[in-house]
Order: sequence, then C-alpha cells, then structure tokens
Amino acid sequence: MKKKVFITRQIPDQGIDMLKENIATVDVFPHDRPILKEELMNVIEHYDGLLCLLTDPVDAEVLKKGKKLSVVSNYAVGYNNIDVQTATDLNICVTNTPGVLTDATADLAWALILGTARKTAQADIYTRKKKFNGWSPTLFLGLPVANMTLGIVGAGRIGTAAALRSSGFSMKVLYVSNHPNQVLEKELNAAKVSMDTLLERSDIISLHVPLTSQTRHMFGKNEFAAMKETALLINTSRGPVVNEKELAYALENGIIAGAGLDVFENEPDIYNRLLTLENTLLLPHIGSATHETRNKMARMAARNMLAGLSGKKPEFLVNPRVFGA
Ligand code: DGY
Repeated sequence: MKKKVFITRQIPDQGIDMLKENIATVDVFPHDRPILKEELMNVIEHYDGLLCLLTDPVDAEVLKKGKKLSVVSNYAVGYNNIDVQTATDLNICVTNTPGVLTDATADLAWALILGTARKTAQADIYTRKKKFNGWSPTLFLGLPVANMTLGIVGAGRIGTAAALRSSGFSMKVLYVSNHPNQVLEKELNAAKVSMDTLLERSDIISLHVPLTSQTRHMFGKNEFAAMKETALLINTSRGPVVNEKELAYALENGIIAGAGLDVFENEPDIYNRLLTLENTLLLPHIGSATHETRNKMARMAARNMLAGLSGKKPEFLVNPRVFGA
C-alpha cells in the first residue's frame, strides 16, 4: 500500500513488522519518551495513519492538522486521549486493543490488592535495608483478603476478570455496573448493588471504568467518607477517576486504610503527598505490561491500522459511525 504511517513510540517489533510488510512508509518517533503535542503537530499532515499511545493527546487540533489522516490506531484499550467526536466528524477511524490485556490487567489488580493489604512494598524495602532482625509478632501487620467483600466498580471485561480471580479467596462480590453481569452472578453469586451499598459494604474496592465525563472524579471525599475505615481502594483503570488530593487526605486521616494505584491523575506526575504515605502501593501504569500482552496489542493495533487504511472496517473500531453504522 502506498500509504504512510507514523508510530509515536517504539512498540514491539511484531506490530511494526506487520506494518512494514504492507505499507510503503512506516516512521517511528525516534525518542524513548512520550511525543509532545507540538512534535506530533509538526509531522501529522504527512501521514495517512497514526499509531499512538495513551500518552499522546490526539485532540481536535491534531486531527484537523492531519489532512490525509484516515486511521488513528490506539495502542491501548482506553482511548480517552483521542477526541473521538472530532475524528468521527472528520471521517477518521479510531481503533483500540480490547481483550488482549484483560488478564494482565486483572492480574495486576490482584497484585495491588494483595500488596496493599499485606504492605509488601514497604516490607520489601525494610528487608533490603537489612532492618529485619528476626520474626516479630507486630511486624508489618496488614489486612485480611480471604473472606472479605470485594466491590467491583465497572463490570466490563477487566472488572469481570478481576472479580473472577476472587473465587480462590472465598470473597463475597458486589458490583456496580450499568448492566447486570450474568457471569459474575452465576459464577460468584455476585450482587449488582447501588454505589452507596458498594461503598458501605466493601472491604476492597477495585475500579474498572473507562475515563469519561461521567467517571472523572467518581471517587472523591464523599465516596471515601462512605467507605469503611478499614477499606482499600485499588485503581488500574484511569487516574482521573479518583480525586488524588482528596484520596491523600482520606489516607492521611484514617478515613480509609490504604490505596493501591497503577494509574494517576496527571501521569507521569503523582500528587506529592501520595508518594510519602506508607499506606499506598504505587506502580507506574504497568497493568498490561507482560511481553505476551504487549506483543498481542502491537499485532492488534497493526491489524486495525491495515484494515482501516485499505478501506475495510477494522475489527476493533471505536467509532462505527465512520462506516455508516
Ligand atoms: C490501556 O490499554 O488502556 C492500558 O491502560 C494500557 O495498556
């Protein structure tokens, strides 16, 4: 295909090779850092396809500058970094990579649940600093996970997978979702409840909603106040779903017991007070970070791009309206 594709950062070779085999020009942003908006603006007009990351602001200005652009293939399942409305108005396909990162992200939610409950990061640092001087009845006392109540906010693919992993821990599962989830109800006897009930009854709350105008700051001071003092908040979705300043206050003042976060409101910046707290476990947005998953994401993003550029409907199209749906 005599088309030109721009990739905003090195992704696994498997995806880049698929594109190079089929497309005349494939350029990769040469630096190992997120591209700046002005850098994207400087090049976008030359390309038919943009393969971008969740760190790239593909807003109306960028899309309008991309005069030849017909496909924006996001290397992520979340696509809140893209102005989908403007892309649709400009007849540009927007695609994402759902499904392939479900297990990896659900696994990481559990790493955060267990790590936050049992203070594993703090205990690791303590051990490496050679402070361990023998077994102690009071060393790093944490919270139980087995037999507790797990509250899942957003019972889509990842929320469902995270909830299903609780079966080995004999947990009661509550969930908040726009739709009933038959899998959770059948497999776990989970109950669909109101947000108020979930906040009041859960010992561990795990967030799995996309970032939209409805979910931005869905968790703030009122929600923390409604949670148990012993409750943990886990976030592997998008940082802005939680008000970080109000979370820090809740953690500092014993309003809730702890938080395990893989995502932050203003990545890569983290609200400073969260960094100094001992009851947080903080990870650098690595939910999908396994070799297998990132390879699958790269191949899926490449397939979406190739379909879109050849005028076919990509399998994982976010805005089917561009194909008249
Ligand atoms: C996504 O895909 O949206 C994750 O946040 C990163 O893989």
